[in-house]
Amino acid sequence: MSVEIGEIACVVGARPNFMKMAPVFEALRAYPEIRPTLIHTGQHYDEAMSRVFFEELGMPAPDVNLEVGSAPHAVQTARILERFDALLESRPPAMVLVAGDVNSTVACALAAAKRSIPVGHVESGLRSRDRTMPEELNRIVTDVLADFLFAPSADGVENLRAEGIDSSKIHLVGNSMIDSLVRHLPAARARQTPARFGMERRGYAVVTLHRPSNVDDPDNLARILQALHDLSERIPIVFPAHPRTAARIAGLYPESGSGNSGLGICEPLGYLEFLGLVDGARLVLTDSGGIQEETTVLGVPCLTFRDNTERPITVSEGTNRLIGSDPAAIAPAASAVLSAEPPEPRAPALWDGRAGERIASILAAALGAEPALASHSAARFPL
Ligand code: UD1
Repeated sequence: MSVEIGEIACVVGARPNFMKMAPVFEALRAYPEIRPTLIHTGQHYDEAMSRVFFEELGMPAPDVNLEVGSAPHAVQTARILERFDALLESRPPAMVLVAGDVNSTVACALAAAKRSIPVGHVESGLRSRDRTMPEELNRIVTDVLADFLFAPSADGVENLRAEGIDSSKIHLVGNSMIDSLVRHLPAARARQTPARFGMERRGYAVVTLHRPSNVDDPDNLARILQALHDLSERIPIVFPAHPRTAARIAGLYPESGSGNSGLGICEPLGYLEFLGLVDGARLVLTDSGGIQEETTVLGVPCLTFRDNTERPITVSEGTNRLIGSDPAAIAPAASAVLSAEPPEPRAPALWDGRAGERIASILAAALGAEPALASHSAARFPL
């Protein structure tokens, strides 16, 4: 019988955290002396933004849900900090693991660091160099606080070194979000989501937009919607709308969506449906971070509707193109994609479905834990 060495509290809060943490959580379970627990801050709480991901990614229900809900950034961050700190006080884990760049990431890293509990950061070192993005501040602060910095790509390692972070803390492990993709792509394809939307493979575009800089200003949003409407005359669009975006669109067109015809706006999709939809698309237009990575691995052209990206490797080695944030850029960029041959799937170094295992083995070694003999088997490339 193995003796427990310690609990690793794995924190998730918002939608993009779930697919980054699931493979790490699963890999940690291969170490009988480690007890991984799942702490959900409740930053995202809608069924479609949270629970469905746990089910589809095979994660157990969270051990604790802090139920912080929505609030302005400072208030939401403070609420998470306070509630997570109370949890740490009542049952201090051996380590805290956070992922990505959302408010839950920075708040929980800070709470743990203040109690001298070691912090691991999954998806460390990404930088957009745009401090007007809340995520950029979250990344910088989390990386300063973390003891184990798990970078998905070499540019992340370089960024951390340039910021003076001790090399001994930095680990190039690959991309755990791609672990989830590799593992779940067959199930995602089996759902035949494009057909359910009446679409043919490579015959439609997928749009996602939710950044405040794109959707919060009504005039700007109206121009974006007009550009999408024009695009929809060339290729049908499916646009699963984040609650923030759906609310802004409803505010613009209170008479039940007039002006949105042809935009294919639908509710947010679960992980498997969305992955299946992107996999079959001819083109993706997005302001998301993770979708830039998923499209690279799937070989789907991605137009990123932002002025910068913290994921330059998806441009230099993948299928991503930054088109800026002027709606006038959408039509020419889409035309260029539609008149070119679809690209091949690409996987940057270590985006091989095993990042979670690497992270787990580094954390386990730090705690002095040994793996069980029959270690779990991860899905591998090629897809
Ligand atoms: C957060 C992350 C962002 C990530 C995005 C993915 C931060 C700073 N931002 O942004 O990096 O790309 O998640 O989805 O952490 N809402 C709901 N139901 C929910 C969650 C949110 O209706 O389950 C609505 C609320 O009106 C809320 C708004 O969406 O005020 C924004 O939610 P919030 O969690 O503050 O930020 P996101 O825009 O989702």
